[in-house]
Amino acid sequence: MKSKHLTQSQPPPITSQPAEVYAQFDQHSREHVESERITQQFSVSYRYPVYFTNHLFTPANKTLTDVVQPDGKRDAKLLIVAETPVLTHQPSLETSITRYLIAHNLNMSGPVVQVPGGESIKQTPETVERVLDIIHTRGIDRHSYILAIGGGALLDAVGYAAAIAHRGIRLVRIPTTVLSQNDSGVGVKNAINAFGKKNFLGTFAPPYAVLNDLTFLDTLPLREWRSGIAEAVKVALIKDRAFFADLEQSAPKLIARNRDAMRRLVMRCAQLHIDHIASGDPFEMGSARPLDFGHWAAHRLEYLSDYRLRHGEAVAIGIALDTTYSKLMGYLTVEDTRRVLSLLTHLGFDLWVPELSRHIDDSSHPRSILRGLEEFREHLGGYLTVTLLRGIGTGFEIHDMEFDVIRQSVQELESYANSKSTSSLAV
Ligand SMILES: NC(=O)c1ccc[n+]([C@@H]2O[C@H](COP(=O)([O-])OP(=O)(O)OC[C@H]3O[C@@H](n4cnc5c(N)ncnc54)[C@H](O)[C@@H]3O)[C@@H](O)[C@H]2O)c1
Ligand SMILES: [Zn+2]
Repeated sequence: MKSKHLTQSQPPPITSQPAEVYAQFDQHSREHVESERITQQFSVSYRYPVYFTNHLFTPANKTLTDVVQPDGKRDAKLLIVAETPVLTHQPSLETSITRYLIAHNLNMSGPVVQVPGGESIKQTPETVERVLDIIHTRGIDRHSYILAIGGGALLDAVGYAAAIAHRGIRLVRIPTTVLSQNDSGVGVKNAINAFGKKNFLGTFAPPYAVLNDLTFLDTLPLREWRSGIAEAVKVALIKDRAFFADLEQSAPKLIARNRDAMRRLVMRCAQLHIDHIASGDPFEMGSARPLDFGHWAAHRLEYLSDYRLRHGEAVAIGIALDTTYSKLMGYLTVEDTRRVLSLLTHLGFDLWVPELSRHIDDSSHPRSILRGLEEFREHLGGYLTVTLLRGIGTGFEIHDMEFDVIRQSVQELESYANSKSTSSLAV
């Protein structure tokens, strides 16, 4: 740009009357305030496989080698990060991994990195920083792979580190809980918690591949096994009535830890999540988040219970709450409401906890469940959108919730919990 343009674009000194000023300014500067635009546009398509297998690290199982050396090249480095509880529950795992990688001539880059598991690793940046440090010292680059082995919390934390180091390293997720195999592991998000808020720091970063090994689920404590089922109930309720009926039928087997029933559940649930992500708004540019049915309360309850509640346990309560709310607002039939609460109860979920009722009359109290709505709105980016039910298998969106009706829903759930019987619920 020539310097005279810069001189001309200076506004005149403020010695004239306003009208004159604008006229002069207009005359001299119009050409300099008009914008010109060029547009950058490109699209990137994402594609990643989600495998369902058993005994991933048995040398005869080719799933992992197919993923990390599709072109036969074996020089890419692998960084393996696994959570300690999984390695402890499965004492031969570390040896199996090492043997597998040696058998297939893969570059391990160093020993398996052990990090703690569970929500605590999302509560501070410590694990993320440690993984970043190892990425740095082992020279892991964008042509390397990070294999993350663990539950949803580990995948979220390691996924975040993988996404921000070098602006993105290929991440192979190997989920080891029901919830991470059927929901969180197959999606495009990662995060850690900050400022007392769930998932405050994170990115959208699709994985390179997801390897679901159903045998990992064998060592899950019953509580974790059950917790993941809540996400299946959630997605069935908003999208798939037939799947909900399947869950009703298979509930006794699921609770008896039947592997085939769980395999069907995990596959169907993962499929519904994958389809939804592809069909809708994968990077959540809009306000709608149907897959977060029941989650405004769930995320809040996790925080209010100081993470005593597992994510899935909190989701079950959130589902019960928003289902009851749907009924009280006249959207959902009494019979459908009964079916939802009954299934959740049969699966062994508590549908009420004291944190639901504390400070519920004061929506601005820092420990009121009602504050969860505002946080949810903030997380969505401005426009509150909550999914409710019009029927089993049919979710729809609303943009406002009535506090009084939420309070009434909480009371109904409390009576339900006290009675321990659907018959006494005022449905
Ligand atoms: N990124 C997403 O899109 C998304 C979606 C839903 C949930 N999440 C997140 O996922 C997390 C919950 O995940 P989760 O339910 O898997 O819980 P988790 O990761 O906390 O794991 C639960 C417990 O099981 C242990 N564990 C894991 N695998 C095991 C195994 N095979 N055998 C024995 N113990 C095992 C863990 O150490 C932990 O103690 C939450 O932080 C939630 O916010 C993320
Ligand atoms: Zn969830």
